[in-house]
Amino acid sequence: EKGTYPYYMLKEIDEQPATMRRIISEYTDETGAVAVDQELLTSLLASDRIYIIACGTSYHAGLASKQIIEQLSQIPVEAHLSSEFGYNMPLLSQKPFFIFLSQSGETADSRQVLVKTSEMGYPSLTITNVAGSTLSREATYTMLLHAGPEIAVASTKAYTAQIAVLTVLAKAVGEAKDVLSAKSFDLPMELGIAANAMDVMINEKELISQLAIDYLSTTRNAFYIGRSEDYYVSMEAALKLKEISYIQAEGFAAGELKHGTIALVEDGTPVIGIITEAVTAPHTRGNLREVESRGAHTLVIVSEELSKEGDQIILPVVHQFLRPLVSVIPGQLIAYFATLERGYDVDKPRNLAKSVTVE
Ligand code: M6R
Repeated sequence: EKGTYPYYMLKEIDEQPATMRRIISEYTDETGAVAVDQELLTSLLASDRIYIIACGTSYHAGLASKQIIEQLSQIPVEAHLSSEFGYNMPLLSQKPFFIFLSQSGETADSRQVLVKTSEMGYPSLTITNVAGSTLSREATYTMLLHAGPEIAVASTKAYTAQIAVLTVLAKAVGEAKDVLSAKSFDLPMELGIAANAMDVMINEKELISQLAIDYLSTTRNAFYIGRSEDYYVSMEAALKLKEISYIQAEGFAAGELKHGTIALVEDGTPVIGIITEAVTAPHTRGNLREVESRGAHTLVIVSEELSKEGDQIILPVVHQFLRPLVSVIPGQLIAYFATLERGYDVDKPRNLAKSVTVE
């Protein structure tokens, strides 16, 4: 039930901090230690590479989690699009472990990969919001997102829940392997801090709605740019924007823009930079200046510690592993408010269904 909310999407955006808190309680034991299924852990510990397979927003959650999982578990991670992987399979490692990310657990593109990798005898985990879904039943293991039903076609709380659950898993693996970065990472505490930071962003609706109106009410196209994690979040923010507001939007690696795509920037083109990482911040800022000098209308979403005068959206500081949980929220809200402003149905965009059950 959407209650007093005009749209499910807004309700689901608002539910994200509570979902983080639920994930903490579902995946910690009485002592507060992170707890996951023992057999799943044993299987992962025996693997030499993790392949994340997913589509759309779930794929973006996989990309955003790659670095976190590698740092905590010290197992290499690759994220792949399901529709590509099944028919263009790379040379696999000796002991692959497959993780299927799927909110619905019903996505046909992902299922065809699971069928193939199961036939090849490889272990698998489905991370899904729907207990008993096809991908959950057919994989070796399941972890639930505990996000509650997601009704809006545009996925929001599933994205942040997927990153959080993958972080739980990576922390458990890293602890079992005695990895220092995992042992010293207080996940329940840091995820709690991130949940509070998400609340802070969610309370910026007035500001973000005004910016969406200023930047996006009439534009034909828009860009999100960022580097590393911020690039992956840019891809997700752009997907949100295009699928519901119908603005042609692209999430771009900030440094790559000048290698061709910058030709699309004209007077007034909105370019939104996401900046949460100290080492790449000056470079992304440089890229924003490049597009500004070609007429772009730039907007900055930046972590508090890296912010400068004139930056429009300021993100509270959270643990470096958990930044995407917070930096994605302005993008979700920008898409929501731009769509409202342009007069479209936020929850039911044209040409799309909630779960895609054909290949
Ligand atoms: O249910 P799934 O997570 O497998 O769905 C994958 C995509 O179809 C889904 O994330 C889609 O991209 C969303 N509409 C994005 O908001």
